[in-house]
Amino acid sequence: MKETFGKGMKSLVAAGVAAGLIFGVAGMVSAKPIKIRFSHVVAPTTPKGQAADMFARLANERLKGKVEVQIFPNSQLYTDKKVLDALSSGSVEMAAPSTAKFTSWVPQLQLFDLPFMFKNREVLYQTMDGEVGRKMFKLLGKKNMLGLSMWDNGFKQIGNNTREIKTPADLKGIKFRIMSSKVLEAQFKAVGGNPLVMPFSEVYSALEQGVIDGQENTWSNMYSKKFFEVQKYITETNHGYLGYLVVTNAQFWAHLPKDVRTELESIMKEVTAWIRVNAYKINQDMKQKIIDSGKTKVTELTEAEKEAFRIAFKPVQDEFRSVIGAEYIDAVNALNDKQ
Ligand code: LMR
Repeated sequence: MKETFGKGMKSLVAAGVAAGLIFGVAGMVSAKPIKIRFSHVVAPTTPKGQAADMFARLANERLKGKVEVQIFPNSQLYTDKKVLDALSSGSVEMAAPSTAKFTSWVPQLQLFDLPFMFKNREVLYQTMDGEVGRKMFKLLGKKNMLGLSMWDNGFKQIGNNTREIKTPADLKGIKFRIMSSKVLEAQFKAVGGNPLVMPFSEVYSALEQGVIDGQENTWSNMYSKKFFEVQKYITETNHGYLGYLVVTNAQFWAHLPKDVRTELESIMKEVTAWIRVNAYKINQDMKQKIIDSGKTKVTELTEAEKEAFRIAFKPVQDEFRSVIGAEYIDAVNALNDKQ
């Protein structure tokens, strides 16, 4: 009896020690939240900047103690080109570069850079949410990147210091900064412009120092980075789209505890819905602020003037049919036709 009691005590003590160890270890694990470093290049006031902050706030509230999301804006950690390497080596866990920045890995994504490809935002969202979007996400998978969502910025406008742009011929001879995308290079070449690839973080000083004459971007990027202060003219062309792929490292994501992953995915859906409603408004507010500053001449085009740009850029779509994939271009055009 005594012996049994002793044995029982011993096993109880052993069980206690084991449990202590297990709970101790588990305690240690749960005491140390999983760090998610999210790097991007724009200002916190832009659609992407606000969406990233919202993602972090909701994740840090709802997964308190389990996850800690930190946002690094303004190219503080990496430029867009370098962030994708950083993501695959595990130096950061999340990023949201514009679609153009993926094109050396996934040239099909240049679909989103094609000038005048999307009739309106509705077509854009149908493309992202439909078969085309799903296929693009699958292509990313080959690079151990996992696409979590697509976030909006908006349509791009053309700014420069040489002359007011009212017709495609006005673009001739102007040196434009572009993101690294063959489509964007072809777009400016189609109208006799001189495209030059440059990281976003260098655009302001390149404009200021005259290394480039102009650039294309959304109102929010031009306002938040003060490009309007170093450009005499901006024309509202709405000729091309600027949107983002929110990506993570596939292995990192797969190893997250299931409940954490599920919650983060649901937050991502919420933030995507928010940005779709708010990105346009943020861009319009910042357009107004640029106009109010009086520092640059903002030109709006008539429908006939816009049509001239559409015609001038049209050959780019044909040139890239085989690179991007005719199936993708045709699918978007079918959606355009239904509008
Ligand atoms: C750019 O390089 O102009 C943009 O991709 C910046 C951004 O992330 O909006």
